[in-house]
Amino acid sequence: MNLSMKNFMTFRNLVYDRCGINFESKKIYFVKKRLISRMEALEIATVEDYLRYLKFRDPKRTEFQELLNLLTTNETYMFREFDQLAVFAEDCLEEVCEKKKKLGNNQIRIWCAGCSTGEEAYTLAIILMEMLEPLSDWNIKITATDIDTKVLSMAQKGEYSSRAVKDVPDEYLEQYLRITGGSFAVKSIVKKHITFTHLNLMDTNQLKSAGLFDFVFCRNVLIYFDEASRKEVVSQFYEHLDPGGFVFLGHSESIGRISSSFTLRKMGGMIMYQKN
Ligand SMILES: C[S@@+](CC[C@H](N)C(=O)[O-])C[C@H]1O[C@@H](n2cnc3c(N)ncnc32)[C@H](O)[C@@H]1O
Repeated sequence: MNLSMKNFMTFRNLVYDRCGINFESKKIYFVKKRLISRMEALEIATVEDYLRYLKFRDPKRTEFQELLNLLTTNETYMFREFDQLAVFAEDCLEEVCEKKKKLGNNQIRIWCAGCSTGEEAYTLAIILMEMLEPLSDWNIKITATDIDTKVLSMAQKGEYSSRAVKDVPDEYLEQYLRITGGSFAVKSIVKKHITFTHLNLMDTNQLKSAGLFDFVFCRNVLIYFDEASRKEVVSQFYEHLDPGGFVFLGHSESIGRISSSFTLRKMGGMIMYQKN
């Protein structure tokens, strides 16, 4: 199959406009491989025909979703970026809990945006279960969202390989996961705190119903966006945070340049963004 730069750019723009993911020209072979796979599945012979199919014969975007599921990068594992999670557990959570206690509010709401196969959301639930005392005093709700429908169904199952749990401390592994054969299944006491939902971060209509959160975790997602999409998404995080709430990004991501609305907080060598 021949994928000209012109056709690549048409695909690139379609994906960018619909979901903010920005494929640079060096990604042409990565994209081409995934296009071939979808074209074979649909028995479509030319790129031009596949483009037409996506634009005019896919009103519910079911085929676009299939393609997108192949184009997203879903790398993740439990307790990823451990040092940052330690700051969340020991500093930020305590700060927010103190504020909530004063207000007589016992709800902790977390939005795990770009949750992939679910490991990050389960990690956050385990941390809350360990840190909140007594746990029964608190009402925990973690909303975990992703644009990729395939990873979301894996997240709902919550069954992982040894690679996904390699950084889980042994005592948590025993307490919160069931080991069956070679795989590790998250126990229902953890699962019950999380709702997995399909959500496109670039779809502001869909985001309207998201509600207010104390913490937004959006780690290793914005690296796939360009500055304009990042700006849009970060302004949504601001809208959906309670005053005093925090945003956590991946270690190679920052919002310093794209939003001055947040207060930059440095704790334990980590940078967090807080809404005043
Ligand atoms: C590399 S994973 C990050 C997983 C996890 N947050 C972590 O740090 O381990 C990036 C995820 O972002 C999701 N994603 C990309 N663009 C998105 C969008 N526009 N809306 C929602 N999720 C998106 C992808 O589907 C993918 O699962």
